[in-house]
Amino acid sequence: MCGNNMSVPLPAVVPAARKATAAVIFLHGLGDTGHGWAEAFAGIKSPHVKYICPHAPVIPVSLNMHMAMPSWFDIFGLSPDAPEDEPGIKQATENVKALIDQEVKNGIPSNRIIVGGFSQGGALSLYTALTTHQKLAGVLALSCWLPLRTTFPQGTISGVNKEIPVLQCHGDCDPLVPLLIGSLTVEKLKSMINPANLTFKTYSGMMHSSCIEEMMDVKQFIDKHLPPVD
Ligand SMILES: *[C@@H]1O[C@H](CO)[C@@H](O)[C@H](O)[C@H]1NC(C)=O
Repeated sequence: MCGNNMSVPLPAVVPAARKATAAVIFLHGLGDTGHGWAEAFAGIKSPHVKYICPHAPVIPVSLNMHMAMPSWFDIFGLSPDAPEDEPGIKQATENVKALIDQEVKNGIPSNRIIVGGFSQGGALSLYTALTTHQKLAGVLALSCWLPLRTTFPQGTISGVNKEIPVLQCHGDCDPLVPLLIGSLTVEKLKSMINPANLTFKTYSGMMHSSCIEEMMDVKQFIDKHLPPVD
């Protein structure tokens, strides 16, 4: 790994309006930063929830002719059988787990934390939820895929998150990560976690982006799985 995390600015944070008893950690897509997503969450925020939108380190990305850009790990290709940056994905997962641990130290138990992300960030959030020993409240997987999917054993995963609630969303006009990838990811996830806890929503006309209807579904998911405790 590049070990240049020191140069990454602190996450964009939308603080809770009162005492934070829950958190959402949301990871942006390739080439983006956390700022736009922090703004989006500010628009749907609940008063007891803290929203944390970290920024990816700037690294050379093979897919983009090795141009340096914010990226959680390297990407070699977009097709389902393209090789994947296994060490990079695993290191990025460790960094997300460390962010979760930091919130736990701040007094928010991990089962009051939803992780999520868009595209590459969504992929990382799914991989983290399926491999961590931290029990999480849910996953928001937007316009994404499951990384290293062939490394998961057949059948239900063991561990704390085998019943984890997942909201997976995808635009049906996505030209970059086609809807088919989203559907295949849903099928794979259904074999790994309790399918009763998985919701798949598609948005008509949506490309590789987000929309208001989707953000309303995101809000509903957060409110359901991170209700106020006091
Ligand atoms: C997952 O679904 C099962 C079956 O509907 C339900 O009993 C369980 O409470 C759900 N788990 C979570 C964490 O929501």
